[in-house]
Amino acid sequence: MSVEGKPRRTTGWSGLGDHFPTLGRTINAHRLVYLDTAATAQKPEGVIAAEQEYYRSTNANVHRGIHTLAEEATAAYENCRHRVAGLISAPSAESVVITRNATAAINLVARGLEHTFKAGDEILLTEMEHHANLVPWIMLANRTGIRLRHIPITDEGLLDLDRMTQLLTPRTRLVSLVHVSNVLGTINPVREVAEAAHAAGARILVDAAQSVGHMPVSMEDLGVDMLVFSAHKCYGPMGLGFLAARPEILEEMEPMEGGGEMINEVFLDRATWAEPPLKFEAGTPNVAAAAAFPPALDLLEDLGLDAVRSHERELTDYALDRLGEIDGLVVFGPHDPSLRGGLVAFHDPEVHPHDMATLLDQAGVAVRAGHHCAQPLHRRLGVVATTRASFGVYSTNEDIDALIEAIRFARRYFQS
Ligand code: ALA
Repeated sequence: MSVEGKPRRTTGWSGLGDHFPTLGRTINAHRLVYLDTAATAQKPEGVIAAEQEYYRSTNANVHRGIHTLAEEATAAYENCRHRVAGLISAPSAESVVITRNATAAINLVARGLEHTFKAGDEILLTEMEHHANLVPWIMLANRTGIRLRHIPITDEGLLDLDRMTQLLTPRTRLVSLVHVSNVLGTINPVREVAEAAHAAGARILVDAAQSVGHMPVSMEDLGVDMLVFSAHKCYGPMGLGFLAARPEILEEMEPMEGGGEMINEVFLDRATWAEPPLKFEAGTPNVAAAAAFPPALDLLEDLGLDAVRSHERELTDYALDRLGEIDGLVVFGPHDPSLRGGLVAFHDPEVHPHDMATLLDQAGVAVRAGHHCAQPLHRRLGVVATTRASFGVYSTNEDIDALIEAIRFARRYFQS
């Protein structure tokens, strides 16, 4: 779907929202203002059509039958792998494992590398991680006796890199951190962390769920060993995620699930595994989702990921300014928009986040409220929950104006 030639406005791409059918909805008699892209991005027509078309014209299983439909299904599935490898500059298409989502990808690494850890080894995480990058390691620590350590954050919501240097020791085997925080918005200096991790002899995994599709992200440039993300946060379908890893890591990893597709040879009492990435892809995958992701990538390529990043940065800058106009509102994360991805979480001492989100919904404004699967971070921030507005390619300054107006309405409601 080309949007080439559409005039660029400071507040976005004119008419781009028309490519996303949900954005045409009316909610509570108001135009839908969708500010929850960090939870999931809305889907463009091309993605919806491709998923339907897969079931209408292909619908076969992959890597199995030697018939035309099966070959087409396999080609669509493998094309998705190739496109993802290109998108994130992975070492090769074979370095990309297709999973259910980013969470499944992190669990796969934690299980797959379990045999390489011993009691006393350390994994270094951060205080700003999503539960997806905390709980699999807590479970691994419970099973193996490894120790988890955490890089603290500064009051501005940046990683404390001095503490990181102290926490990286010869015992550190892995550093796993988020690229863009889903609450603070902070863009972490992953390349710097990767260099420090490698100098200490540790590997590094980056959770890029909030960065891929929102800015250029290259495994090569970041210097990371593993990267995970989900398609649905990049305008693609749900039920599709990815682990990209250096080939020797995938060789070393044990498969987490056994079954069809992931084997080389099976006897009644033993089996050998297929080569990566198939070794990690037991059972029938979500081929329809894989077939439907490339149109989302086409859209992002047409827009240009540098332009997407600039757009989200401008929106964040505008949102920070406008939220700053509301007395008493506490906005979390760095004040400098160049250090942030396209989302802003805030706390209003006068209105509980759940009430805030409910009242915003009355005005057609969709935001997320709660701990955003980051309870330890909220404890560090001293609040139980926040309200979060997050942006995508279709977001505009007018959406942010609607948010501000709705926050003022919520305040009046609770003061009256
Ligand atoms: N991790 C997603 C979010 O932050 C669901 O909303």
